Amino acid sequence: MPAYQIQEHKFDMVVVGAGGAGLRATFGLAQKGLKTACITKVFPTRSHTVAAQGGVAAALANMGEDDWRYHFFDTVKGSDWLGDQDAIEYMCKEAIPAIVELEHYGVPFSRTEDGRIYQRPFGGMTTRFGEGPPAQRTCAAADRTGHAILHTLYQQSLAHDAQFFIEYFALDLIMDQHGACRGVLALDMAEGTLHLFRAQGTVLATGGYGRAYFSATSAHTCTGDGGGMALRAGLGMQDMEFVQFHPTGIYGAGCLITEGVRGEGGILRNSNGERFMERYAPSVKDLAPRDMVSRAMTIEIREGRGVGEHKDHILLDLTHLGPEVIHEKLPGIAESARIFAGVDVEKQPIPVLPTVHYNMGGIPTNYHGEVVQLREGNPDAVVPGLYAIGEAACVSVHGANRLGSNSLLDLVVFGRAVANRAAETIKPNGDPGKLASDACDASLARLDRLRNASGGTPTSIIRDKMQRTMQADAAVFRTGETLADGVRKMREIHASFADVRVSDRSLVWNSDLIETFELSNLLDQALATIVSAENRQESRGAHAREDFPDRDDANWQKHTLCWVDGAGNTAIDYRPVHMYTLTDDVAVVPPKKRVY
Ligand code: FUM
Repeated sequence: MPAYQIQEHKFDMVVVGAGGAGLRATFGLAQKGLKTACITKVFPTRSHTVAAQGGVAAALANMGEDDWRYHFFDTVKGSDWLGDQDAIEYMCKEAIPAIVELEHYGVPFSRTEDGRIYQRPFGGMTTRFGEGPPAQRTCAAADRTGHAILHTLYQQSLAHDAQFFIEYFALDLIMDQHGACRGVLALDMAEGTLHLFRAQGTVLATGGYGRAYFSATSAHTCTGDGGGMALRAGLGMQDMEFVQFHPTGIYGAGCLITEGVRGEGGILRNSNGERFMERYAPSVKDLAPRDMVSRAMTIEIREGRGVGEHKDHILLDLTHLGPEVIHEKLPGIAESARIFAGVDVEKQPIPVLPTVHYNMGGIPTNYHGEVVQLREGNPDAVVPGLYAIGEAACVSVHGANRLGSNSLLDLVVFGRAVANRAAETIKPNGDPGKLASDACDASLARLDRLRNASGGTPTSIIRDKMQRTMQADAAVFRTGETLADGVRKMREIHASFADVRVSDRSLVWNSDLIETFELSNLLDQALATIVSAENRQESRGAHAREDFPDRDDANWQKHTLCWVDGAGNTAIDYRPVHMYTLTDDVAVVPPKKRVY
């Protein structure tokens, strides 16, 4: 192996990722007087948060009755009782100041007649602990809310004294011999130089791994790089079997059509023109949570009521909303539907299909954003120096099924929580900890091996096999048989990575090499997903087992932990669900049947 030169940087905190969570953490940390670096593989405003459409939930009660306790109840029920209730209380209560703060930072929210933030209904959001009418809780900037928030957060970041390292790809966490994280090794993609960021705290804000699937609303950059690094550092990932399918991805293209369309009155119809959601969720209909709507659509298609030549998709009808609502509230999806489906939404319905959208699972954390692991019988043992936030993390506020518009909320609430926690625990200009002289060797050896990989299989071939296997065998509905077959195939595909071929040997803007690193991250998490899914013998939230159709709280109300080593060996263990709240401000919601 050639001697790779490494430039060393010292910071108090280093944040990996510059989406909503990463940016909120970055400037929050800088605000607290901590010397902070943010490293990101894409320019910050190109992060996937930019694609979020419908809005961000907070019980502001701007457009009708609401209370953060109702939001808490809906989120617990939406999670199918797998969410940690202390963390859910924290998120729903903090939602209100977090949104007011975003407004003050300059997010251009849509407005009501009297100038307040506009809020629309979203799936599973109700009032009076599920007994009242739907809540108008989702704060929106037309249907480009993520774009508005991301740009505002980036502007705030520039106003603070944080240092950005843009188009740097994070290779590995650098852990010490005691299991503490001491920083991260990264490749400057433009220059081909290596950089060791030493810090007292490293925050993973790297997003989800939607690209493990063939059809996803996620950007091609959503390759779960933080989760991949965590697994290589020997950490277990939590609840990976829970993958959210958004009901309305554009058929064929996979682009997102926001749930906000149904919030504004859009209706799903089958080949008979029937509003079929009335049969599946009589009270909330098209605004049932995503797991239920995706299952209902899949059943309609299976039973022959799909539309199109192959009867393999469903129609989303908004023709009755009128041009005014479409222009004012839904201009972005009108454009997407025109470009990607050739449809004029004022006159024609949009062809849609459930499409992979979000990972409920991720790197386990507590509500401060500190990474936790099961250590010596302690299920909540904090990994010193390591934090995770946003979709990369599993706090767990979403449990087995996330409610729409709780994701943008999760980003800002926990991005801020990490900054608050670090302010309490990290000393400015403190010691980033000692590192052994060989601390980076394993990562450098991996870099060298992949850069010179001369096997027989191009990266794209392995990726395609992984994506097709996950799409077919870890789908909306699962059975023991399809999962066992999927696990067998995924183990083979994972093993085939030993035969990968990288054609470009350079370190300067080597997209072949970067895609290979990304594939490695995806492969580990795809395997963790399907192994965890085969292991969980019940149906809960987005994990629908046809051979185990009921939720089984006695045996399965627990978080899965899954480890994957370099050779593709997997191990599983569990953490208990937090069935307690943080304060007496709200009561624990005991499990009951989840009907809408
Ligand atoms: O449908 C949407 O606008 C997506 C929102 C979300 O995933 O929270």
